[in-house]
Amino acid sequence: MKRIVILTGAGMSAESGVSTFRDSKGLWQNHRIEEVASPVAWERNPEMVLEFYNQRRKQLFEVEPNAGHYALVRLEEKYEVQIITQNVDDLHERAGSSQVLHLHGELKKARSSADPYLIYELNHWELKLGDLCEKGSQLRPHIVWFGEAVPMIEAAVKLSTTADIFLVIGTSLVVYPAAGLINYVERKVPKYYVDPKASWVSGISGMQIINDKASIALPKLVDNMLQKISTKNL
Ligand code: OAD
Repeated sequence: MKRIVILTGAGMSAESGVSTFRDSKGLWQNHRIEEVASPVAWERNPEMVLEFYNQRRKQLFEVEPNAGHYALVRLEEKYEVQIITQNVDDLHERAGSSQVLHLHGELKKARSSADPYLIYELNHWELKLGDLCEKGSQLRPHIVWFGEAVPMIEAAVKLSTTADIFLVIGTSLVVYPAAGLINYVERKVPKYYVDPKASWVSGISGMQIINDKASIALPKLVDNMLQKISTKNL
């Protein structure tokens, strides 16, 4: 079975009603990164940080996967599919994708601020000051903040090197190391970049740009990819 590796970003979930970061009205237009998404912010004003992620989490309990998420699930009928997402929502999983690696953490999880290996599932939206891990330390959002290491990047690099087809969906490709994953994909591997604002990526060959929304472009692209395999099997 051929392996499709898919890198997704905030645009993947935009049509579910989840805000992107850098579009107009994006999250970083209304919030300063260093005030809500950094270890310094957590030290200075943990209440504000908790509230920022509480609002994101509350919203996540109210939204649903969109046609783009569901299209990617269909690829699993004929391909081995590995999703690498920068998103902290769980919409790929809720749509039914079976292999999802979260590079930047997960909103519906909290972790100990003293022991990064103590991670807890949250089935409610609110994380408060005074919510403690079993060792008595404050729980923090299970999110990779700016200035922190990205523990899953090694696994993501490894997967990218094994791709037979590589898709990039709904990301501005400005945040590293995630944006650099495409450099690990072999030159001969077909690559697609689905994003209304996608443009040619410097130094990357064999890349097809699809300037459309995920919910429109992906059902068609997936149909084509499934069809290709069926025709080959005739
Ligand atoms: P950005 O907000 O930087 O980029 C979102 C991309 O989605 C843009 O290129 C849009 O054109 C595109 N887009 C918008 N609507 C779309 C749609 N319906 N279909 C397809 N694409 C659409 O978000 P990311 O690239 O995901 O990290 O940002 C990367 C990281 O920066 C995030 O994971 C987050 C952020 O700071 C952390 O918080 C650690």
